[in-house]
Amino acid sequence: MKVIVIALIFLALQGVVFGVVIYQLYSRNNRKNGQNLVYKNQSSLSYSSFNSAKKNKMLIHGFGENGRADFNKQIKDGLLKHDDYNVIVVDWSTASNKNYTIAKNNAQSIGKSIAQFIDWAKLDKGYLHIIGFDLGAHIAGFAGKQTKLGRVDKITGLDPVKKGFNINQSATRLSTGDARFVEVYHSNGGKIGIMEHLYDSDKYINDGKSQPKCKTDKCSHDFAWKVYADQLKGKKYGTYTCETLAELDGRGCGYLPMEWHGEKTGISQIVTPETTKNG
Ligand SMILES: *[C@@H]1O[C@H](CO)[C@@H](O)[C@H](O)[C@H]1NC(C)=O
Ligand SMILES: *[C@@H]1O[C@H](CO)[C@@H](O)[C@H](O)[C@H]1NC(C)=O
Ligand SMILES: *[C@@H]1O[C@H](CO)[C@@H](O)[C@H](O)[C@H]1NC(C)=O
Repeated sequence: MKVIVIALIFLALQGVVFGVVIYQLYSRNNRKNGQNLVYKNQSSLSYSSFNSAKKNKMLIHGFGENGRADFNKQIKDGLLKHDDYNVIVVDWSTASNKNYTIAKNNAQSIGKSIAQFIDWAKLDKGYLHIIGFDLGAHIAGFAGKQTKLGRVDKITGLDPVKKGFNINQSATRLSTGDARFVEVYHSNGGKIGIMEHLYDSDKYINDGKSQPKCKTDKCSHDFAWKVYADQLKGKKYGTYTCETLAELDGRGCGYLPMEWHGEKTGISQIVTPETTKNG
């Protein structure tokens, strides 16, 4: 008994016991109330509205958040407005509600749990697109790196967090190759988020650093998922293609039609209406 307690305390200090991940399924049949999908419980899948013929979307929240975060609600609603997907909302709050060090140190093992879930539910046999915000963007990458059956089709990282991640070490962060196509939206680059062009597609919202009407970095950071959700709900933004980050000031980027913007590789820019573009 004593040994077990000591072992648990040791594991807790290592952050290992915070890795419980909860999955909730939403679809057009159940837009409001998620259904629990339980790893290795086949009836939780078969009695849910999960349909293996539909495309899969998975949402992974950020540090300090949980499955009920506004990020999940807005993007889930946007996705279901757009098409009839299996939308799986991941809740990793057992780790994300601890301090940042613990949350970050658990990111790889949370990613591994998610990868095992993906393999078990065969999500990547059909089509799987993972959308992760903040620390959740790196967790999406860790899931993509650790799936065994197939490859995740697409990962969208919404302002992936910078703190504690070395951009030169692609194995320990969200990186290209974690999915067929990896795109990142940058909205608070150089502050909470990563600024560098590291992915198949890097989409910079306005200057990629600070957002109009935002007084705090958190506000600019959240802007990434807000713009993403609004796009899903049909809002159109000005989209541009750029050669270098230096062009984001608005003078160098060339007009790019919205339809093109989706899987355009390289650097592109999204200009929101609050910003006037003089170029
Ligand atoms: C498996 O899932 C079903 C349906 O959600 C549930 O009724 C059942 O209790 C679960 N079984 C276990 C062992 O958790
Ligand atoms: C985070 O929490 C752990 C365990 O409670 C503690 O050992 C560590 O010092 C904390 N780290 C920070 C940066 O607060
Ligand atoms: C990454 O590599 C570049 C080029 O080698 C170097 O200038 C930079 O300092 C490195 N950054 C980190 C965080 O190690």
